[in-house]
Amino acid sequence: MPLHRLTAITIGVPNVAETIAYYSEFGLGAQPGGWLASTDGGRQLRVVHAPTRRLIELRIGAEHLDDIAAIAHRLRAAGALADESGTSLNTVEPVTGTRVVVEIAGPIQQPPTPATPYNGPGRIERGTGRAPGVLRETTVRPRKLGHVVVGSTDYEASIRFFTDLIGFKVSDRIKGHGAFLRCSTDHHNVLVLHAPVTFLHHSSWQVDDVDEVGRGAATMLADHPERHVWGLGRHHAGSNFFWYLKDPAGNFSEYYSDMDCIIDDQLWSPETLEGARGLFNWGPPPPPSFLAPDDLAEIMTGAHQPG
Ligand SMILES: [Fe+2]
Repeated sequence: MPLHRLTAITIGVPNVAETIAYYSEFGLGAQPGGWLASTDGGRQLRVVHAPTRRLIELRIGAEHLDDIAAIAHRLRAAGALADESGTSLNTVEPVTGTRVVVEIAGPIQQPPTPATPYNGPGRIERGTGRAPGVLRETTVRPRKLGHVVVGSTDYEASIRFFTDLIGFKVSDRIKGHGAFLRCSTDHHNVLVLHAPVTFLHHSSWQVDDVDEVGRGAATMLADHPERHVWGLGRHHAGSNFFWYLKDPAGNFSEYYSDMDCIIDDQLWSPETLEGARGLFNWGPPPPPSFLAPDDLAEIMTGAHQPG
């Protein structure tokens, strides 16, 4: 596909140093300029100052200059900003005010995780011995940025922007609430949710497997139980295992593994999910603050007009 991945996000927070320290503990490598790097994706998160927490910029990788030219053409035809410079294109998602940059980027290189043997009824995969997942002692390090979720006051308009103009595809919808969109073979890279105010709901980071989801969250919670938001569970849309934690600015950060991939668009039928299915397949019930974070009223009173 012309678009093939998320490259990076920039988030704005009031407490930059504290937030960088959190994501560094989360397993990303701190670099100069407020950047944090994942193992396979490199610099994928930048933390800058903003009066209230928000997603400032979303960067998307494209394969060819022709792809960028086609997006620019669609944006201009729709009367939207399309600022082309060299190998990238800047625009703004009009409802949330998020800067969207489409740039030429190489494919992400992910050395495959060695297959982990799992025993099951009638299936002793690992012979005599303990599960590898309980023997690991290394720090959990996210492999790549997987997706970002934003609240929009007009989610249908935001979804149209990402699909009709930028070129995302719809993977599934949540009835009356939003849509899972992809710009890669992952089930979703962007989820736009109906919300009373523009805000960043969460960023999500891929780890090797469910043991890494659990180990990562357990380490983050050891001295900071207040960081816990929701987990461990498995989503229905995308099928990924999840555990959500809260950063010091109030943004959620998710460890995930085992997400569905859509290699062949012809073989995937988007569904409209209703009720709890839109949220999860199994796990503890989500806390009310997952859908409506505690600081939404604060964000609304401090909210700036997008643009
Ligand atoms: Fe997520």
